[in-house]
Amino acid sequence: MRIGILTGGGDCPGLNAVIRAVVRKAAVHGHEVVGIRDGWRGALSGDVMPLDVAAVRGILPRGGTILGTTGLPPTVVRDNLKAITGVLSANGIDALVAIGGEGTLAGAEILAAAGVRVVGVPKTIDNDLEGTDVTFGFDTAVNVATEAIDRLHTTAESHHRILVVEVMGRNTGWIALHSGVAGGANGILIPERPFLLDDVTGWVESRFASSYAPVLVVSERAVPADEDLMEQYSVTDPFGSRYIPGVGQWLANALQLMSGHDARTTVLGHVQRGGTPSAFDRDLATRFGLHAVDALLEGDWGQMVALQGTRIVRVPLATAVGTLKTVPDSRYDEVSILFG
Ligand code: F6P
Repeated sequence: MRIGILTGGGDCPGLNAVIRAVVRKAAVHGHEVVGIRDGWRGALSGDVMPLDVAAVRGILPRGGTILGTTGLPPTVVRDNLKAITGVLSANGIDALVAIGGEGTLAGAEILAAAGVRVVGVPKTIDNDLEGTDVTFGFDTAVNVATEAIDRLHTTAESHHRILVVEVMGRNTGWIALHSGVAGGANGILIPERPFLLDDVTGWVESRFASSYAPVLVVSERAVPADEDLMEQYSVTDPFGSRYIPGVGQWLANALQLMSGHDARTTVLGHVQRGGTPSAFDRDLATRFGLHAVDALLEGDWGQMVALQGTRIVRVPLATAVGTLKTVPDSRYDEVSILFG
């Protein structure tokens, strides 16, 4: 069998670990692997590269993706179905491993419905895909954010300042929740739970009252509950979701005005996505890659490998692309007694 492999959407620590595992396992079973460059772009243009065991040597701890990636939407797959299947057969590709988030996996689902032998591997630092307890990349992002929060505590205390840390999470607050708890944040704001500025100011005041300085973790899409503030400051993204651009800085300004304390903002941005994966992510990504090859060899097309508990299982691709896995109220409420 000749297996094609591609990475789509935003890059994520652990992508190379999946690629290596797929190549190594395929080789053990006497199958060949070719890499498709830049996700759906390469699948459309036939931009492929051979991938043997020598080509993947040393890439396990490397961040990013040796294949490159693009964020082309699944509609590109739907609109170019014939071209993509033509490219696959012209390159002798019998089966495909698609590694990506919701968009890439939705594209993979379209291909599966058209009869292409495809298996998906879930990735995103945001951890917002249904069907899997965790996506690889998330643990690394949380570790990066936690280290930043640890460091910001000491400078916040030295200067008696408010420090706001803005973390990633396009639609969900998983990174903010986990890094905020691990870093002992004074408050955690996530998109699933619109916040009241008065509450946040209260947390800040009580933190200063106990001779500490507040560190607040804010997800990039956290929003105030106050509709007037939203009217004034929010914009709407192409998918209809409203957010305040630069919400971390916006919040720091508001808190400085309301509390009279000096405030600063740190936006962690793509630092959370770059660089070497954590040990947990290397292990998970490797297991996903190994199990993806099993699924292909067993003819279990249209599935995505997933982590449930400690086991790697298979779920239909549709499970992952239907709905987002948001932070449940119970998870937020359980830690919110630590705020303030
Ligand atoms: O989905 C992963 C993610 O890193 C989000 O957390 C973030 O909102 C988005 O991608 C950033 O995308 P881009 O790299 O296109 O700016």
